[in-house]
Amino acid sequence: MVCPFSDFTGTESKVVTGLAFVALTVGLFKLTTATLSFLSMIFDLYILPPVNFSQYGAKKGNWALVTGASDGIGKEYARQIAKKGFNVVLVSRTKAKLEAVAKEIEGEFDVKTIIVAFDASKDVPESYEALKEAIKGLPITILINNVGKSHSMPVSFLDTDEKEMNDIITINDFTTLRVTRVVSPLILSTIQKQNGVRGLIVNMSSFAGLFPTPMLATYTGSKFFLQGWSAALAGELKPQNIDVECVLSYLVTSAMSKVRRTSFTVPNPKQFVASTLKNIGRRGGAQERYATITPYPSHALMHWAVANTVGVFSKAANHLNYQMHKSIRIRALRKAKRIAEANAKDSDFQKTE
Ligand SMILES: NC(=O)c1ccc[n+]([C@@H]2O[C@H](COP(=O)([O-])OP(=O)(O)OC[C@H]3O[C@@H](n4cnc5c(N)ncnc54)[C@H](OP(=O)(O)O)[C@@H]3O)[C@@H](O)[C@H]2O)c1
Repeated sequence: MVCPFSDFTGTESKVVTGLAFVALTVGLFKLTTATLSFLSMIFDLYILPPVNFSQYGAKKGNWALVTGASDGIGKEYARQIAKKGFNVVLVSRTKAKLEAVAKEIEGEFDVKTIIVAFDASKDVPESYEALKEAIKGLPITILINNVGKSHSMPVSFLDTDEKEMNDIITINDFTTLRVTRVVSPLILSTIQKQNGVRGLIVNMSSFAGLFPTPMLATYTGSKFFLQGWSAALAGELKPQNIDVECVLSYLVTSAMSKVRRTSFTVPNPKQFVASTLKNIGRRGGAQERYATITPYPSHALMHWAVANTVGVFSKAANHLNYQMHKSIRIRALRKAKRIAEANAKDSDFQKTE
């Protein structure tokens, strides 16, 4: 066999050997870091015991505040945090739904609740003043910024309805900022009075805040905002003993996702929140990110696999996402047409009766 380097001079062969050594070292480094991050994810998800909420002052009469608490994931956060021994401030839009959730939680767990109803799409100072008044002096240690709105169906940015665009940014971002500025000072003063107790702020993002998602451009932008803001806030509040976590998730069954059936990749809110609270403060699938967690096991594997192969910002991931949301839009339009036709038939039938 002829050696491919047999014509090289001494200097050239030293350069080639050097380059091969660098390539091997970089390859080994990448392989080692990928293996370690995979093992760390498996440890987080399957081996470590659940996070102990006594560090956040559970069962000591402390309070948690949950936004978007009347339905879906937020209602489940409120229920599971109450089960861990926190009184709960339930914040959302519809008073009657909040009253029902409050009754359910107080009936099931030995905790108190307070409800605060306001429309987060109306970004008015009175809402935040009312919230401030309702929680004045409460020993709050946990804030869960869960409220969120998405597009009613995938739509191109240029065709997005103006109100839908404004509501998404107002509810997902402005409300989160303003509620955090009302609640954080209370968390700080509470933990300063309770030796060893930490504060916790959870911000509910989405896979749309991990992968740029065509046809959900405004929603994606609003959730990317949460990721950047959360990580920055985490750096600021860590020295003051408050943990900040940005939570990433693929689909969960709920009114917002319009997905009813669970599957390997789609948990229900109860399963999703249980994974989140079990792992809070750990990385799950978000091994490459600070103050961020992808807690549900199948979502974590998806996140890890893309981040360690093509990359979350890659053209391939963007293209796949675009095709997926284009096809969801086509199906959603067909369904809307079927419903409109059925309604028209019903009203014709009523007229002839
Ligand atoms: N479901 C998913 O597949 C999924 C995936 C990734 C991330 N997320 C994120 O998870 C969070 C919760 O989503 P979800 O699926 O649980 O939603 P959901 O079932 O539709 O519940 C939304 C909650 O937010 C409240 N809300 C909506 N608009 C409001 C407004 N204008 N003012 C005040 N409250 C308002 C609702 O109150 P009312 O009951 O009064 O309407 C309800 O309590 C969101 O931030 C979402 O972006 C969801």
